[in-house]
Amino acid sequence: MSSSRIAAFYRLTVAERRRKLAEALDLSHAEVEALEAADALPLDVADIMVENAVTTFALPFGVALNFQVNGRDHVIPMVVEEPSVIAAASNAALVARAGGGFAAEADPGAMIGQIQLVDVPDPGAAVERLGAARARILAAAEELTPGLCRRGAGPLEVRLVRSARGETMVVVHLLLDTGDAMGANAVNSLVEALAPMVEEIAGGTTCLRILSNLADRRLARAAVRIPFAALARHGMDGAQVAERMLYAYEFAAADPYRAATHNKGIMNGIDALAVATGNDWRAIEAGAHAYASRAGSYGSLTTWGIENGNLVGSIELPMAVSTVGPLVQSHPRVRLALRLLGVASARELAGIMAAVGLASNLGAMRALATEGIQKGHMALHARAVSHAAGARGEEAEELRRRLLAAGEVKIDRARELLRALESRS
Ligand code: MEV
Repeated sequence: MSSSRIAAFYRLTVAERRRKLAEALDLSHAEVEALEAADALPLDVADIMVENAVTTFALPFGVALNFQVNGRDHVIPMVVEEPSVIAAASNAALVARAGGGFAAEADPGAMIGQIQLVDVPDPGAAVERLGAARARILAAAEELTPGLCRRGAGPLEVRLVRSARGETMVVVHLLLDTGDAMGANAVNSLVEALAPMVEEIAGGTTCLRILSNLADRRLARAAVRIPFAALARHGMDGAQVAERMLYAYEFAAADPYRAATHNKGIMNGIDALAVATGNDWRAIEAGAHAYASRAGSYGSLTTWGIENGNLVGSIELPMAVSTVGPLVQSHPRVRLALRLLGVASARELAGIMAAVGLASNLGAMRALATEGIQKGHMALHARAVSHAAGARGEEAEELRRRLLAAGEVKIDRARELLRALESRS
């Protein structure tokens, strides 16, 4: 797309937004139909997705705008229940544009499959034997999953892990390049199939055979550089805001209580994009938080600093995502999300995921370091409370205004104000 900046998009009606998006992305008739269809997920598709399906469940599907990643504009599809996530990401992406947007990249899709061996009589000797049999194990793996085993550095690793009961377990890691797939099925099938051979070589008994969600050979990274001038807010100049944001980062870097919330804000954007694109957001969450603990204590997934009048930020985290598979074929909204995003591979998606996480963090830190998040949050929350109280159309907008003016965005107050509004008309 030429530009992901669509001025005052949020002020348009839903129908107008769809029209603008279709124009900006040159959507086909079928794609516009997918955007407009009332039924996001046909029941027959839901029925094959999970056991015991009885109905489907809907969430808002919105788009974050203003994103520029590696010099290209992208509309970011997001599925999320929290009101401020899309607005905050769009806002931050606009700020980042002042410095040329985000630079992002990701590793090839190397996933780790683990084989756990217990009751190994001589763990040290088992490591030796497994090392000596490396070529044989890899040849078997290659035969089982042609083309999937990574060539070159370290597709097979052996680790010794001590259990709380004092046993030394032997753990074999197999690295697979799963390409555009997340790879869970390929990895799990492979380690299950290879386990008997590994057991025979190592001695002992195989127990678990499963992928690791700490996908630290499949990292995504993003970076941003923002001139101070673009950060000014709430009566503070850009240098002041940058300085306060640096304090915010240092807090997260040093304190796990703060880091958990800081990282939750990062995952706000990443998860919303993961859900829209049909990815396993629990796997991404698990990998992210485990990676945030890699230094031995839980810390920030992002780093921020100040360089020559710019605020500079970066992020690195595991990103096991997919752009292929049955869900992409059968879920119309997942297909649509990938079309809106305009990515050609899982690696590209992973890089954009990292950029979206960094943007979410930028937006949260800038708001927190200045006026706080509640003002913006309450402005959006008031819409939901007004609707929940029963107001619709213009009346809902009027009630929203009154709730904000009253400074009390609560359902009881909304009902009271609605009664007063209705008694007047
Ligand atoms: C709320 O969903 C996310 C934040 O709490 C993140 C943060 O504190 O950095 C605003």
